[in-house]
Amino acid sequence: MSSTEERLDDLRRRKLETKAGGGQARVDAQHTRGKMTARERLDVLLDEGSFQEIDSLVEHRCTDFGMDGNIIPGDGVVTGHGTIEGRPVYCYAQDFTVYGGSLGEMHGLKICKVLDMAMKTGCPVIGLNDSGGARIQEGVASLGSYAEIFFRNTRASGVIPQISVIMGPCAGGAVYSPAITDFIIMVDSTAHMFITGPEVIKTVTNEDVSFEELGGAMTHGSKSGVSHFTADSDEDALLLARKLHRLFPLNYLERPPKESSSDSPERSCEKLDDIIPNESNKPYDVKEVILEVLDDGGFLEVQEHYAQNLVVGFGHLAGNTVGIIANQPNHLAGCLDIDACDKGARFVRFCDSFNIPVLTFEDVPGFLPGTEQEHGGIIRHGAKLLYAYAEATVPKLTVILRKAYGGAYDVMGSKHIRGDYNIAWPTAELAVMGAAGAVEIIHRRRIQSARNTEQERERLIEDFNETFANPYKAAALGYLDDVIPPRETRARLAKALGMLLDKEESRPTRKHGNIPL
Ligand code: HXC
Repeated sequence: MSSTEERLDDLRRRKLETKAGGGQARVDAQHTRGKMTARERLDVLLDEGSFQEIDSLVEHRCTDFGMDGNIIPGDGVVTGHGTIEGRPVYCYAQDFTVYGGSLGEMHGLKICKVLDMAMKTGCPVIGLNDSGGARIQEGVASLGSYAEIFFRNTRASGVIPQISVIMGPCAGGAVYSPAITDFIIMVDSTAHMFITGPEVIKTVTNEDVSFEELGGAMTHGSKSGVSHFTADSDEDALLLARKLHRLFPLNYLERPPKESSSDSPERSCEKLDDIIPNESNKPYDVKEVILEVLDDGGFLEVQEHYAQNLVVGFGHLAGNTVGIIANQPNHLAGCLDIDACDKGARFVRFCDSFNIPVLTFEDVPGFLPGTEQEHGGIIRHGAKLLYAYAEATVPKLTVILRKAYGGAYDVMGSKHIRGDYNIAWPTAELAVMGAAGAVEIIHRRRIQSARNTEQERERLIEDFNETFANPYKAAALGYLDDVIPPRETRARLAKALGMLLDKEESRPTRKHGNIPL
Protein backbone atom coordinates (compact mmCIF):
# COMPACT_ATOMS: atom_id res chain seq x y z
CA MET A 1 0.00 0.00 0.00
CA SER A 2 1.44 3.39 -0.92
CA SER A 3 1.83 6.06 1.65
CA THR A 4 -0.09 9.33 1.39
CA GLU A 5 3.12 11.01 0.38
CA GLU A 6 3.59 8.55 -2.49
CA ARG A 7 0.03 9.10 -3.67
CA LEU A 8 0.50 12.84 -3.60
CA ASP A 9 3.76 12.51 -5.50
CA ASP A 10 1.99 10.42 -8.10
CA LEU A 11 -0.73 13.06 -8.41
CA ARG A 12 1.89 15.82 -8.74
CA ARG A 13 3.68 13.88 -11.46
CA ARG A 14 0.44 13.30 -13.36
CA LYS A 15 -0.54 16.95 -13.09
CA LEU A 16 2.88 18.05 -14.28
CA GLU A 17 2.46 15.85 -17.34
CA THR A 18 -0.83 17.57 -18.17
CA LYS A 19 0.98 20.90 -18.33
CA ALA A 20 3.58 19.70 -20.85
CA GLY A 21 1.20 19.62 -23.85
CA GLY A 22 2.86 18.19 -26.94
CA GLY A 23 6.39 18.82 -25.68
CA GLN A 24 8.92 21.65 -25.76
CA ALA A 25 9.76 21.37 -29.48
CA ARG A 26 6.13 21.92 -30.47
CA VAL A 27 5.74 24.70 -27.90
CA ASP A 28 8.80 26.40 -29.42
CA ALA A 29 7.31 26.01 -32.91
CA GLN A 30 4.10 27.65 -31.66
CA HIS A 31 6.10 30.58 -30.27
CA THR A 32 8.13 30.91 -33.47
CA ARG A 33 4.88 31.48 -35.32
CA GLY A 34 4.02 34.33 -32.96
CA LYS A 35 1.37 32.22 -31.23
CA MET A 36 0.97 31.67 -27.51
CA THR A 37 0.27 28.26 -26.03
CA ALA A 38 -3.23 27.40 -24.79
CA ARG A 39 -2.26 28.00 -21.16
CA GLU A 40 -0.49 31.27 -21.90
CA ARG A 41 -3.63 32.44 -23.66
CA LEU A 42 -5.84 31.58 -20.71
CA ASP A 43 -3.46 33.52 -18.47
CA VAL A 44 -4.10 36.66 -20.53
CA LEU A 45 -7.83 36.05 -20.88
CA LEU A 46 -8.60 35.48 -17.21
CA ASP A 47 -7.99 37.41 -14.00
CA GLU A 48 -4.72 36.37 -12.44
CA GLY A 49 -4.98 33.14 -10.47
CA SER A 50 -8.70 32.71 -11.22
CA PHE A 51 -8.47 29.78 -13.61
CA GLN A 52 -9.77 26.50 -12.29
CA GLU A 53 -9.07 23.69 -14.71
CA ILE A 54 -11.32 20.68 -15.17
CA ASP A 55 -10.72 17.43 -17.04
CA SER A 56 -6.95 17.80 -17.20
CA LEU A 57 -6.68 14.02 -16.77
CA VAL A 58 -8.99 13.13 -19.65
CA GLU A 59 -7.39 10.85 -22.27
CA HIS A 60 -8.52 9.75 -25.69
CA ARG A 61 -9.56 6.12 -26.09
CA CYS A 62 -8.67 5.61 -29.72
CA THR A 63 -6.69 2.45 -30.51
CA ASP A 64 -6.42 2.79 -34.30
CA PHE A 65 -3.29 3.95 -36.14
CA GLY A 66 -1.12 3.36 -33.07
CA MET A 67 -2.93 6.03 -31.11
CA ASP A 68 -2.99 3.85 -27.97
CA GLY A 69 0.74 4.35 -27.76
CA ASN A 70 0.41 8.12 -27.95
CA ILE A 71 -1.69 9.38 -25.11
CA ILE A 72 -1.33 12.96 -23.93
CA PRO A 73 -3.36 13.82 -20.82
CA GLY A 74 -5.90 16.58 -21.41
CA ASP A 75 -6.31 15.44 -25.02
CA GLY A 76 -5.37 18.71 -26.67
CA VAL A 77 -7.74 21.15 -25.04
CA VAL A 78 -7.51 23.03 -21.75
CA THR A 79 -10.93 23.60 -20.19
CA GLY A 80 -12.35 25.19 -17.06
CA HIS A 81 -13.63 28.44 -15.63
CA GLY A 82 -12.28 31.65 -14.22
CA THR A 83 -13.18 35.30 -13.90
CA ILE A 84 -12.85 38.44 -16.00
CA GLU A 85 -12.85 41.56 -13.84
CA GLY A 86 -14.35 39.44 -11.11
CA ARG A 87 -17.26 38.12 -13.23
CA PRO A 88 -17.38 34.41 -14.04
CA VAL A 89 -16.76 32.80 -17.42
CA TYR A 90 -16.32 29.27 -18.72
CA CYS A 91 -13.61 28.79 -21.29
CA TYR A 92 -11.67 26.33 -23.37
CA ALA A 93 -8.40 26.68 -25.25
CA GLN A 94 -7.36 24.21 -27.93
CA ASP A 95 -3.70 23.19 -27.70
CA PHE A 96 -2.14 23.08 -31.15
CA THR A 97 0.93 21.33 -29.72
CA VAL A 98 -1.15 18.20 -29.10
CA TYR A 99 -2.14 16.43 -32.33
CA GLY A 100 -2.41 19.89 -33.95
CA GLY A 101 -5.27 20.78 -31.61
CA SER A 102 -7.36 18.33 -33.59
CA LEU A 103 -10.70 17.42 -32.13
CA GLY A 104 -11.23 13.79 -31.20
CA GLU A 105 -14.07 12.24 -29.23
CA MET A 106 -12.82 13.12 -25.72
CA HIS A 107 -11.43 16.53 -26.70
CA GLY A 108 -14.90 17.34 -28.01
CA LEU A 109 -16.64 16.00 -24.92
CA LYS A 110 -14.48 18.22 -22.72
CA ILE A 111 -15.77 21.25 -24.63
CA CYS A 112 -19.31 19.89 -24.29
CA LYS A 113 -18.89 19.70 -20.52
CA VAL A 114 -17.86 23.36 -20.42
CA LEU A 115 -20.91 24.32 -22.46
CA ASP A 116 -23.19 22.22 -20.23
CA MET A 117 -21.78 23.77 -17.05
CA ALA A 118 -22.08 27.26 -18.51
CA MET A 119 -25.74 26.65 -19.28
CA LYS A 120 -26.44 25.25 -15.80
CA THR A 121 -24.82 28.22 -14.13
CA GLY A 122 -25.84 30.96 -16.58
CA CYS A 123 -22.29 31.95 -17.51
CA PRO A 124 -20.81 33.14 -20.81
CA VAL A 125 -18.40 30.89 -22.71
CA ILE A 126 -15.24 32.00 -24.47
CA GLY A 127 -13.63 29.46 -26.79
CA LEU A 128 -10.05 29.80 -28.02
CA ASN A 129 -9.76 27.89 -31.30
CA ASP A 130 -6.48 26.64 -32.75
CA SER A 131 -7.06 23.30 -34.42
CA GLY A 132 -6.42 21.15 -37.45
CA GLY A 133 -10.11 20.13 -37.33
CA ALA A 134 -11.56 16.68 -36.95
CA ARG A 135 -8.90 14.24 -35.62
CA ILE A 136 -8.40 12.05 -38.63
CA GLN A 137 -7.45 8.93 -36.63
CA GLU A 138 -10.71 9.02 -34.67
CA GLY A 139 -12.98 9.15 -37.69
CA VAL A 140 -16.68 9.38 -37.06
CA ALA A 141 -16.23 9.60 -33.27
CA SER A 142 -14.63 12.96 -33.92
CA LEU A 143 -17.47 14.09 -36.17
CA GLY A 144 -19.93 12.97 -33.48
CA SER A 145 -18.24 15.14 -30.88
CA TYR A 146 -18.29 18.11 -33.26
CA ALA A 147 -22.03 17.75 -33.72
CA GLU A 148 -22.49 17.49 -29.94
CA ILE A 149 -20.75 20.87 -29.69
CA PHE A 150 -22.82 22.42 -32.50
CA PHE A 151 -25.98 21.24 -30.78
CA ARG A 152 -24.91 22.80 -27.49
CA ASN A 153 -23.86 26.09 -29.16
CA THR A 154 -27.31 26.26 -30.71
CA ARG A 155 -29.08 25.43 -27.45
CA ALA A 156 -27.04 28.07 -25.63
CA SER A 157 -27.74 30.74 -28.28
CA GLY A 158 -29.66 33.58 -26.68
CA VAL A 159 -29.24 32.06 -23.21
CA ILE A 160 -25.58 32.90 -22.52
CA PRO A 161 -23.20 35.05 -24.57
CA GLN A 162 -20.75 32.92 -26.57
CA ILE A 163 -17.51 34.35 -27.96
CA SER A 164 -15.07 32.54 -30.27
CA VAL A 165 -11.49 33.62 -30.70
CA ILE A 166 -9.79 32.09 -33.73
CA MET A 167 -6.05 31.92 -33.14
CA GLY A 168 -4.86 29.40 -35.72
CA PRO A 169 -6.43 27.08 -38.27
CA CYS A 170 -10.18 26.47 -38.09
CA ALA A 171 -11.09 24.35 -41.07
CA GLY A 172 -13.85 22.23 -42.49
CA GLY A 173 -16.98 21.64 -40.43
CA ALA A 174 -15.06 22.96 -37.42
CA VAL A 175 -15.96 26.48 -38.50
CA TYR A 176 -19.58 25.91 -37.59
CA SER A 177 -19.14 26.10 -33.86
CA PRO A 178 -17.71 29.64 -34.00
CA ALA A 179 -20.24 30.51 -36.69
CA ILE A 180 -23.12 29.72 -34.34
CA THR A 181 -21.64 31.69 -31.46
CA ASP A 182 -22.35 35.40 -31.06
CA PHE A 183 -18.99 36.95 -31.90
CA ILE A 184 -15.87 35.84 -33.74
CA ILE A 185 -12.51 37.51 -33.15
CA MET A 186 -9.75 36.52 -35.60
CA VAL A 187 -6.03 37.11 -35.15
CA ASP A 188 -4.49 38.72 -38.21
CA SER A 189 -2.08 36.49 -40.19
CA THR A 190 -2.31 33.41 -37.94
CA ALA A 191 -6.07 32.69 -37.99
CA HIS A 192 -7.69 31.04 -41.03
CA MET A 193 -11.22 29.82 -41.46
CA PHE A 194 -12.53 27.92 -44.46
CA ILE A 195 -14.76 25.02 -45.36
CA THR A 196 -12.36 23.67 -47.97
CA GLY A 197 -8.69 24.65 -48.14
CA PRO A 198 -6.64 26.03 -51.05
CA GLU A 199 -5.49 22.56 -52.23
CA VAL A 200 -9.03 21.19 -52.52
CA ILE A 201 -10.20 24.37 -54.21
CA LYS A 202 -7.39 24.04 -56.75
CA THR A 203 -8.41 20.45 -57.49
CA VAL A 204 -12.13 21.13 -57.79
CA THR A 205 -12.36 24.58 -59.36
CA ASN A 206 -8.78 25.15 -60.56
CA GLU A 207 -8.67 28.43 -58.63
CA ASP A 208 -5.39 29.56 -57.10
CA VAL A 209 -5.90 31.16 -53.74
CA SER A 210 -3.68 31.64 -50.71
CA PHE A 211 -4.70 30.74 -47.13
CA GLU A 212 -4.81 34.44 -46.28
CA GLU A 213 -6.89 35.46 -49.25
CA LEU A 214 -9.24 32.54 -48.80
CA GLY A 215 -9.91 32.69 -45.10
CA GLY A 216 -7.67 35.18 -43.32
CA ALA A 217 -8.87 37.67 -40.74
CA MET A 218 -9.28 40.57 -43.19
CA THR A 219 -11.09 38.40 -45.72
CA HIS A 220 -13.68 37.40 -43.13
CA GLY A 221 -13.68 40.87 -41.61
CA SER A 222 -14.35 42.71 -44.85
CA LYS A 223 -15.69 40.33 -47.51
CA SER A 224 -17.64 37.46 -46.00
CA GLY A 225 -18.81 39.08 -42.77
CA VAL A 226 -18.02 35.85 -40.90
CA SER A 227 -15.74 37.60 -38.43
CA HIS A 228 -16.67 40.53 -36.20
CA PHE A 229 -13.24 41.72 -35.05
CA THR A 230 -9.66 41.52 -36.33
CA ALA A 231 -6.90 41.55 -33.74
CA ASP A 232 -3.22 42.25 -34.36
CA SER A 233 -1.91 39.55 -32.03
CA ASP A 234 -2.99 36.81 -29.63
CA GLU A 235 -2.79 39.26 -26.78
CA ASP A 236 -4.94 41.88 -28.54
CA ALA A 237 -7.56 39.26 -29.32
CA LEU A 238 -7.73 38.08 -25.72
CA LEU A 239 -7.95 41.61 -24.33
CA LEU A 240 -10.78 42.27 -26.76
CA ALA A 241 -12.60 39.15 -25.57
CA ARG A 242 -12.27 40.51 -22.01
CA LYS A 243 -13.74 43.82 -23.15
CA LEU A 244 -16.73 42.13 -24.78
CA HIS A 245 -17.37 40.00 -21.70
CA ARG A 246 -17.45 43.19 -19.63
CA LEU A 247 -20.13 44.70 -21.91
CA PHE A 248 -22.56 41.82 -21.70
CA PRO A 249 -24.76 40.33 -18.99
CA LEU A 250 -23.89 36.84 -17.79
CA ASN A 251 -27.10 35.47 -19.29
CA TYR A 252 -30.43 36.50 -20.82
CA LEU A 253 -32.11 36.97 -17.44
CA GLU A 254 -29.67 39.66 -16.35
CA ARG A 255 -28.83 43.18 -17.39
CA PRO A 256 -25.36 44.19 -18.57
CA PRO A 257 -23.16 45.55 -15.77
CA LYS A 258 -23.28 49.33 -15.31
CA GLU A 259 -20.14 51.28 -16.09
CA SER A 260 -19.28 54.34 -14.03
CA SER A 261 -18.38 57.53 -15.87
CA SER A 262 -17.79 61.16 -15.06
CA ASP A 263 -19.32 62.18 -18.39
CA SER A 264 -22.57 63.95 -17.46
CA PRO A 265 -25.67 62.51 -19.14
CA GLU A 266 -26.82 66.14 -19.46
CA ARG A 267 -23.76 67.13 -21.51
CA SER A 268 -24.69 69.41 -24.38
CA CYS A 269 -23.33 68.34 -27.80
CA GLU A 270 -22.88 71.68 -29.63
CA LYS A 271 -20.79 69.96 -32.30
CA LEU A 272 -23.89 68.16 -33.53
CA ASP A 273 -25.71 71.39 -34.44
CA ASP A 274 -23.52 71.82 -37.53
CA ILE A 275 -22.77 68.25 -38.47
CA ILE A 276 -25.40 67.88 -41.19
CA PRO A 277 -24.25 69.61 -44.40
CA ASN A 278 -26.59 72.16 -45.97
CA GLU A 279 -26.77 70.18 -49.20
CA SER A 280 -28.97 67.19 -48.60
CA ASN A 281 -26.83 64.87 -50.75
CA LYS A 282 -23.53 65.70 -49.11
CA PRO A 283 -22.00 62.93 -47.01
CA TYR A 284 -20.66 63.17 -43.46
CA ASP A 285 -19.32 60.66 -40.95
CA VAL A 286 -22.06 59.31 -38.71
CA LYS A 287 -19.40 57.96 -36.34
CA GLU A 288 -18.83 61.55 -35.23
CA VAL A 289 -22.43 61.63 -34.05
CA ILE A 290 -22.05 58.33 -32.23
CA LEU A 291 -18.84 59.35 -30.47
CA GLU A 292 -20.34 62.66 -29.39
CA VAL A 293 -23.43 61.08 -27.87
CA LEU A 294 -21.92 58.11 -26.02
CA ASP A 295 -20.25 58.27 -22.61
CA ASP A 296 -16.63 59.42 -22.90
CA GLY A 297 -16.71 58.96 -26.68
CA GLY A 298 -16.30 55.22 -26.12
CA PHE A 299 -17.48 53.11 -29.05
CA LEU A 300 -16.53 49.54 -29.86
CA GLU A 301 -17.37 49.03 -33.51
CA VAL A 302 -18.46 45.56 -34.63
CA GLN A 303 -17.69 44.43 -38.21
CA GLU A 304 -15.90 47.69 -38.89
CA HIS A 305 -14.75 46.70 -42.37
CA TYR A 306 -17.88 44.88 -43.55
CA ALA A 307 -20.96 46.61 -45.04
CA GLN A 308 -19.61 49.99 -44.04
CA ASN A 309 -22.86 51.67 -45.07
CA LEU A 310 -24.25 50.51 -41.73
CA VAL A 311 -22.27 51.12 -38.55
CA VAL A 312 -22.99 48.86 -35.57
CA GLY A 313 -21.30 48.54 -32.21
CA PHE A 314 -21.44 48.97 -28.47
CA GLY A 315 -20.99 51.84 -26.09
CA HIS A 316 -22.47 53.25 -22.91
CA LEU A 317 -25.11 55.86 -22.33
CA ALA A 318 -25.40 57.10 -18.74
CA GLY A 319 -23.45 53.98 -17.76
CA ASN A 320 -25.75 51.51 -19.55
CA THR A 321 -24.47 49.24 -22.33
CA VAL A 322 -26.25 50.19 -25.55
CA GLY A 323 -26.14 48.73 -29.06
CA ILE A 324 -25.74 51.38 -31.75
CA ILE A 325 -26.94 50.96 -35.30
CA ALA A 326 -26.44 53.84 -37.70
CA ASN A 327 -26.63 54.48 -41.43
CA GLN A 328 -23.32 55.79 -42.74
CA PRO A 329 -23.81 58.57 -45.35
CA ASN A 330 -20.07 58.37 -46.04
CA HIS A 331 -20.49 54.98 -47.67
CA LEU A 332 -23.03 54.20 -50.44
CA ALA A 333 -24.89 57.29 -49.16
CA GLY A 334 -26.04 55.16 -46.22
CA CYS A 335 -28.28 52.96 -48.40
CA LEU A 336 -29.36 49.60 -47.02
CA ASP A 337 -28.04 46.72 -49.11
CA ILE A 338 -28.01 42.97 -48.59
CA ASP A 339 -24.87 42.89 -46.44
CA ALA A 340 -25.93 45.84 -44.30
CA CYS A 341 -29.32 44.22 -43.64
CA ASP A 342 -27.68 40.95 -42.56
CA LYS A 343 -25.21 42.79 -40.38
CA GLY A 344 -27.87 44.94 -38.75
CA ALA A 345 -30.35 42.10 -38.23
CA ARG A 346 -27.89 39.86 -36.44
CA PHE A 347 -26.73 42.75 -34.29
CA VAL A 348 -30.24 43.80 -33.26
CA ARG A 349 -31.08 40.17 -32.42
CA PHE A 350 -27.99 39.85 -30.23
CA CYS A 351 -28.90 43.04 -28.37
CA ASP A 352 -32.48 41.87 -27.88
CA SER A 353 -31.33 38.46 -26.62
CA PHE A 354 -29.21 40.03 -23.90
CA ASN A 355 -31.21 43.04 -22.73
CA ILE A 356 -29.10 45.61 -24.50
CA PRO A 357 -31.13 48.66 -25.60
CA VAL A 358 -30.91 49.53 -29.28
CA LEU A 359 -30.07 53.09 -30.24
CA THR A 360 -30.59 53.91 -33.92
CA PHE A 361 -29.20 56.92 -35.80
CA GLU A 362 -30.99 57.17 -39.09
CA ASP A 363 -29.99 58.81 -42.35
CA VAL A 364 -31.07 56.45 -45.09
CA PRO A 365 -32.10 57.30 -48.65
CA GLY A 366 -33.59 53.82 -49.08
CA PHE A 367 -32.60 50.34 -50.20
CA LEU A 368 -29.79 50.12 -52.75
CA PRO A 369 -31.29 49.82 -56.25
CA GLY A 370 -30.01 47.39 -58.92
CA THR A 371 -30.36 43.92 -60.34
CA GLU A 372 -27.47 42.62 -58.26
CA GLN A 373 -29.35 43.53 -55.11
CA GLU A 374 -32.76 42.38 -56.34
CA HIS A 375 -31.47 39.06 -57.65
CA GLY A 376 -29.36 38.60 -54.56
CA GLY A 377 -32.54 38.74 -52.52
CA ILE A 378 -32.61 42.22 -50.98
CA ILE A 379 -36.30 41.54 -50.31
CA ARG A 380 -35.43 38.53 -48.15
CA HIS A 381 -32.44 40.20 -46.50
CA GLY A 382 -34.22 43.50 -45.88
CA ALA A 383 -37.02 41.50 -44.30
CA LYS A 384 -34.52 40.13 -41.77
CA LEU A 385 -33.68 43.59 -40.52
CA LEU A 386 -37.34 44.57 -40.35
CA TYR A 387 -38.18 41.35 -38.55
CA ALA A 388 -35.31 41.75 -36.09
CA TYR A 389 -36.40 45.27 -35.15
CA ALA A 390 -40.06 44.30 -34.93
CA GLU A 391 -39.49 41.30 -32.68
CA ALA A 392 -37.08 43.15 -30.37
CA THR A 393 -38.60 44.10 -27.03
CA VAL A 394 -35.59 45.85 -25.52
CA PRO A 395 -35.80 49.65 -25.30
CA LYS A 396 -35.59 51.02 -28.84
CA LEU A 397 -34.58 54.64 -29.30
CA THR A 398 -34.35 56.19 -32.76
CA VAL A 399 -32.99 59.54 -33.85
CA ILE A 400 -33.67 60.62 -37.44
CA LEU A 401 -30.74 62.82 -38.40
CA ARG A 402 -31.62 63.49 -42.00
CA LYS A 403 -33.16 61.12 -44.56
CA ALA A 404 -35.77 58.57 -43.64
CA TYR A 405 -37.12 57.49 -46.99
CA GLY A 406 -39.45 54.76 -48.10
CA GLY A 407 -39.42 51.28 -46.60
CA ALA A 408 -36.13 52.10 -44.94
CA TYR A 409 -38.00 54.64 -42.77
CA ASP A 410 -40.24 51.85 -41.52
CA VAL A 411 -37.39 49.40 -40.99
CA MET A 412 -34.96 51.53 -39.00
CA GLY A 413 -36.67 51.37 -35.62
CA SER A 414 -39.75 53.40 -36.57
CA LYS A 415 -42.63 54.01 -34.16
CA HIS A 416 -44.79 51.62 -36.15
CA ILE A 417 -42.60 48.62 -35.40
CA ARG A 418 -42.61 49.67 -31.77
CA GLY A 419 -39.85 52.17 -31.37
CA ASP A 420 -40.14 53.45 -27.80
CA TYR A 421 -38.62 56.87 -28.21
CA ASN A 422 -38.49 58.35 -31.69
CA ILE A 423 -37.07 61.81 -32.21
CA ALA A 424 -35.70 63.83 -35.10
CA TRP A 425 -33.44 66.73 -35.76
CA PRO A 426 -34.86 69.72 -37.68
CA THR A 427 -32.80 68.51 -40.67
CA ALA A 428 -34.90 65.32 -40.93
CA GLU A 429 -36.64 64.46 -44.19
CA LEU A 430 -39.40 61.86 -44.03
CA ALA A 431 -40.96 60.87 -47.31
CA VAL A 432 -41.87 57.96 -49.53
CA MET A 433 -38.95 58.84 -51.75
CA GLY A 434 -36.53 61.64 -52.61
CA ALA A 435 -37.99 64.78 -54.22
CA ALA A 436 -36.37 64.34 -57.66
CA GLY A 437 -37.81 60.84 -58.12
CA ALA A 438 -41.15 61.75 -56.62
CA VAL A 439 -41.96 64.71 -58.89
CA GLU A 440 -41.10 62.63 -61.98
CA ILE A 441 -43.80 60.19 -60.96
CA ILE A 442 -46.58 62.38 -59.69
CA HIS A 443 -46.01 65.38 -62.02
CA ARG A 444 -44.68 63.73 -65.17
CA ARG A 445 -47.38 65.18 -67.47
CA ARG A 446 -47.18 68.58 -65.89
CA ILE A 447 -43.43 68.73 -66.40
CA GLN A 448 -43.68 67.48 -69.98
CA SER A 449 -46.31 70.08 -70.90
CA ALA A 450 -44.55 72.99 -69.20
CA ARG A 451 -43.02 75.66 -71.40
CA ASN A 452 -39.72 75.50 -69.48
CA THR A 453 -39.53 71.88 -68.26
CA GLU A 454 -36.37 72.40 -66.20
CA GLN A 455 -37.76 75.41 -64.40
CA GLU A 456 -41.03 73.60 -63.70
CA ARG A 457 -39.21 70.52 -62.43
CA GLU A 458 -37.16 72.61 -60.06
CA ARG A 459 -40.22 74.44 -58.77
CA LEU A 460 -42.02 71.15 -58.13
CA ILE A 461 -38.97 69.68 -56.35
CA GLU A 462 -38.80 72.74 -54.13
CA ASP A 463 -42.51 72.45 -53.42
CA PHE A 464 -42.15 68.74 -52.57
CA ASN A 465 -39.21 69.42 -50.28
CA GLU A 466 -41.14 72.11 -48.47
CA THR A 467 -43.95 69.66 -47.82
CA PHE A 468 -41.97 66.54 -46.93
CA ALA A 469 -38.30 67.38 -46.38
CA ASN A 470 -38.88 68.14 -42.74
CA PRO A 471 -39.92 66.24 -39.62
CA TYR A 472 -43.10 68.18 -38.85
CA LYS A 473 -45.68 66.11 -40.75
CA ALA A 474 -44.46 63.01 -38.87
CA ALA A 475 -44.40 64.90 -35.57
CA ALA A 476 -47.98 66.09 -36.18
CA LEU A 477 -49.05 62.47 -36.59
CA GLY A 478 -47.25 61.41 -33.40
CA TYR A 479 -44.82 59.22 -35.36
CA LEU A 480 -42.09 61.26 -33.74
CA ASP A 481 -42.16 61.97 -30.03
CA ASP A 482 -40.31 65.22 -30.53
CA VAL A 483 -38.10 67.29 -32.77
CA ILE A 484 -35.03 68.47 -30.89
CA PRO A 485 -32.00 70.70 -31.36
CA PRO A 486 -29.12 68.31 -32.16
CA ARG A 487 -27.10 69.52 -29.17
CA GLU A 488 -29.73 68.05 -26.83
CA THR A 489 -29.44 64.54 -28.29
CA ARG A 490 -27.36 62.96 -25.53
CA ALA A 491 -29.38 64.45 -22.70
CA ARG A 492 -32.73 63.51 -24.24
CA LEU A 493 -31.65 59.96 -25.05
CA ALA A 494 -30.17 59.45 -21.58
CA LYS A 495 -33.41 60.59 -19.92
CA ALA A 496 -35.58 58.46 -22.18
CA LEU A 497 -33.35 55.43 -21.64
CA GLY A 498 -33.59 55.90 -17.88
CA MET A 499 -37.38 55.61 -18.14
CA LEU A 500 -37.23 52.67 -20.52
CA LEU A 501 -34.81 50.39 -18.69
CA ASP A 502 -37.67 48.78 -16.77
CA LYS A 503 -40.06 48.66 -19.70
CA GLU A 504 -42.07 45.49 -20.18
CA GLU A 505 -43.26 44.34 -23.56
CA SER A 506 -44.09 40.87 -24.73
CA ARG A 507 -44.76 39.04 -27.96
CA PRO A 508 -47.20 36.12 -28.43
CA THR A 509 -45.97 32.77 -27.12
CA ARG A 510 -45.01 30.37 -29.88
CA LYS A 511 -42.41 27.74 -30.58
CA HIS A 512 -40.31 30.27 -32.47
CA GLY A 513 -40.86 32.80 -35.20
CA ASN A 514 -39.84 32.13 -38.77
CA ILE A 515 -37.38 34.94 -39.53
CA PRO A 516 -36.68 35.15 -43.29
CA LEU A 517 -33.18 33.68 -43.63
C1 HXC B 1 -4.89 14.58 -36.59
C2 HXC B 1 -3.58 16.37 -37.07
C3 HXC B 1 -4.63 17.00 -37.76
C4 HXC B 1 -5.87 16.31 -37.83
C5 HXC B 1 -2.94 18.29 -37.84
N1 HXC B 1 -2.55 17.22 -37.15
N2 HXC B 1 -4.21 18.18 -38.24
N3 HXC B 1 -3.71 15.19 -36.49
N4 HXC B 1 -5.95 15.11 -37.24
N5 HXC B 1 -6.92 16.84 -38.46
C6 HXC B 1 -1.25 16.98 -36.54
C7 HXC B 1 -0.15 16.71 -37.53
O1 HXC B 1 -0.10 15.36 -37.85
C8 HXC B 1 1.07 17.16 -36.76
O2 HXC B 1 1.42 16.17 -35.85
C9 HXC B 1 0.56 18.32 -35.95
O3 HXC B 1 -0.87 18.16 -35.89
C10 HXC B 1 0.83 19.67 -36.57
O4 HXC B 1 0.44 19.63 -37.93
P1 HXC B 1 1.37 20.16 -39.11
O5 HXC B 1 0.74 19.76 -40.36
O6 HXC B 1 2.75 19.76 -38.85
O7 HXC B 1 1.26 21.72 -38.87
P2 HXC B 1 1.11 22.87 -39.92
O8 HXC B 1 2.15 22.73 -40.99
O9 HXC B 1 1.09 24.12 -39.12
O10 HXC B 1 -0.31 22.70 -40.58
C11 HXC B 1 -1.46 22.81 -39.82
C12 HXC B 1 -2.68 22.40 -40.65
C13 HXC B 1 -2.41 21.00 -41.29
C14 HXC B 1 -2.91 23.45 -41.73
C15 HXC B 1 -3.86 22.40 -39.71
O11 HXC B 1 -1.96 20.13 -40.26
C16 HXC B 1 -3.64 20.42 -41.90
O12 HXC B 1 -3.97 20.77 -43.05
N6 HXC B 1 -4.30 19.52 -41.17
C17 HXC B 1 -5.45 18.87 -41.67
C18 HXC B 1 -6.59 19.80 -41.68
C19 HXC B 1 -7.89 19.11 -42.09
O13 HXC B 1 -8.05 18.83 -43.29
N7 HXC B 1 -8.70 18.73 -41.11
C20 HXC B 1 -9.90 18.06 -41.35
C21 HXC B 1 -10.89 19.14 -41.79
S1 HXC B 1 -12.47 18.52 -41.98
P3 HXC B 1 2.90 16.00 -35.31
O14 HXC B 1 2.83 14.77 -34.48
O15 HXC B 1 3.77 15.89 -36.50
O16 HXC B 1 3.19 17.23 -34.50
C22 HXC B 1 -13.09 18.69 -40.51
C23 HXC B 1 -14.44 18.15 -40.44
C24 HXC B 1 -15.11 18.64 -39.21
O17 HXC B 1 -12.58 19.18 -39.62
C25 HXC B 1 -16.48 18.19 -39.39
C26 HXC B 1 -17.35 18.67 -38.34
C27 HXC B 1 -18.72 18.57 -38.83
